[in-house]
Amino acid sequence: MSDATESNPPMLRLQGVGKRYGTRWVLRNLDLELRRGELLALLGESGAGKSTLLNLIAGLEAPDEGRIELDGKAVQALNDDASAALRRHALGFVFQAFHLIPHMSAARNVAIPLMLNGVSPGQALAAAGNMLAEVGLGDRGDSLPAQLSGGEQQRVALARALVHAPALLLADEPTGNLDPASADVALRLLATQVREHGAALLMVTHSEHAAAIADRRLRLGSDGLHTA
Ligand SMILES: Nc1ncnc2c1ncn2[C@@H]1O[C@H](COP(=O)(O)OP(=O)(O)OP(=O)(O)O)[C@@H](O)[C@H]1O
Ligand SMILES: [Mg+2]
Repeated sequence: MSDATESNPPMLRLQGVGKRYGTRWVLRNLDLELRRGELLALLGESGAGKSTLLNLIAGLEAPDEGRIELDGKAVQALNDDASAALRRHALGFVFQAFHLIPHMSAARNVAIPLMLNGVSPGQALAAAGNMLAEVGLGDRGDSLPAQLSGGEQQRVALARALVHAPALLLADEPTGNLDPASADVALRLLATQVREHGAALLMVTHSEHAAAIADRRLRLGSDGLHTA
């Protein structure tokens, strides 16, 4: 093993990954490596397969070809306990459609990753409150998702993705519903997790402003991933 690989092995590695729905291949033969401290922007037109790719990485769907490794370990089917534990601990995901749990308050939604990792409810809710304050929603912890605006829900989703300080952050259009000031707060929080806490960030975005914080930009097209 070379020095470079030894000191900072890929947090995420895709080798020949493909995914099809029925007979239609949405993704084909994708290779990618992402290391801690790296901030990658993923561009590509609507329908290119960006969200599908994030779902594969998160283990929410299985690839039909190839291999995905998180921290050197293969991402397996959802029911694999070890793989699920790794994802619970190491992964934060800001979904394009937020996917907040509707009957839970904003604070409880944000507390979920901590509770799943064994933090006591009291401590988890306190940390969730602090994280909500960071995204400008310190006074909305008791609100249900349906009582929040789209941009507010997106910030709750961001807080939930960051609260357990994951090593790999997947963010799908994380500023899509935000005004410029809130977008800057969101980007700063994501970048801080990378720059100061050594996370790796894979951010899907159509926004030039958001992509500008990235070290590397890739475009997903019908012929795979290319430098953008
Ligand atoms: N469950 C599914 N069954 C069938 N086709 C699907 C399914 N999920 C996604 N697709 C198809 O896969 C393609 C890629 O979808 P995906 O949501 O990954 O695109 P995207 O790049 O995220 O687009 P956008 O920028 O609009 O969010 C689309 O053509 C979509 O219709
Ligand atoms: Mg998408």
